[in-house]
Amino acid sequence: MIALITGGSSGIGLSIAKELHKLGYAIILVARDLEKLKKAQKDIGENTEIIELDISTLENCTKLYNMVKPKDIDILINSAGFGLHGKFLEQNLQTQLDMIDLNVKATQILTKLFLNDFKEKNYGYILNIASTAAFSPGPLMACYFATKAYVLRLTEAIAEEIRQEHSKVYIGCLCPGPVATHFNDLLGVKFAKAQNSDELAQFAVAKMFKRKMIIIPTLNHKLNAFLNKFVPTKVLLKANYNVQIKKINNAKKNK
Ligand SMILES: NC(=O)c1ccc[n+]([C@@H]2O[C@H](COP(=O)([O-])OP(=O)(O)OC[C@H]3O[C@@H](n4cnc5c(N)ncnc54)[C@H](OP(=O)(O)O)[C@@H]3O)[C@@H](O)[C@H]2O)c1
Repeated sequence: MIALITGGSSGIGLSIAKELHKLGYAIILVARDLEKLKKAQKDIGENTEIIELDISTLENCTKLYNMVKPKDIDILINSAGFGLHGKFLEQNLQTQLDMIDLNVKATQILTKLFLNDFKEKNYGYILNIASTAAFSPGPLMACYFATKAYVLRLTEAIAEEIRQEHSKVYIGCLCPGPVATHFNDLLGVKFAKAQNSDELAQFAVAKMFKRKMIIIPTLNHKLNAFLNKFVPTKVLLKANYNVQIKKINNAKKNK
């Protein structure tokens, strides 16, 4: 039993890797920073391999797939991703495009490559990490929210396609709210209430094995996701703008 985890050197990916390792899975972690990967490998323990690779290109996603194909992967966790705060026009275009390459394109490419194999053997699990950001538009984090909406909708649609074929393959989407990880350091903000990533991973892995398609970890966020369906977009936009501007202003104050 073997699990491949992109973004497995830190945060949610690392926590999920630890959780799967506890359940007896051999682990392959993928990320760019070799030192962080080595540390994660040591933290997890035996039967952990590392692959130092930037997966934000089709070429490297294909390279990764070909590298691990002989190992007959059972679980793919698409966790590599990053966020970006600020006004759409003021953000660097290349960084926005890099985010789409990683959050959207790498998730899509790896999902497609592994799903094909999983379908053939009629077994396997794919868990894509979206966010509660997937449920609404996100002014001042416009591009990030949009990438996560894409991941959620893509996952849901694929899940239905394979369900219609009576496939035993699982594909689902984890939609966490704020989680205490390196993600926030990169954004330069601190969330007032952030979930512990090990607790999140324990919950997410249990739900994945119960074949839950959309996994939302806390009751509050579940309720929000549900209510978002009924709240007019205008109201959501204002509310989300206010949340983000508060975070940005707090981050400026704490600098
Ligand atoms: N933290 C939150 O509040 C939160 C909430 C909801 C959803 N999420 C989502 O959860 C996922 C994981 O985020 P996290 O919070 O665990 O963040 P994190 O601690 O920053 O972890 C990100 C991981 O992705 C890897 N990575 C980044 N760019 C990469 C690239 N181009 N190629 C390969 N690996 C790359 C990083 O390692 P290297 O930098 O060494 O490559 C790291 O292992 C993301 O998709 C994020 O959007 C996070």
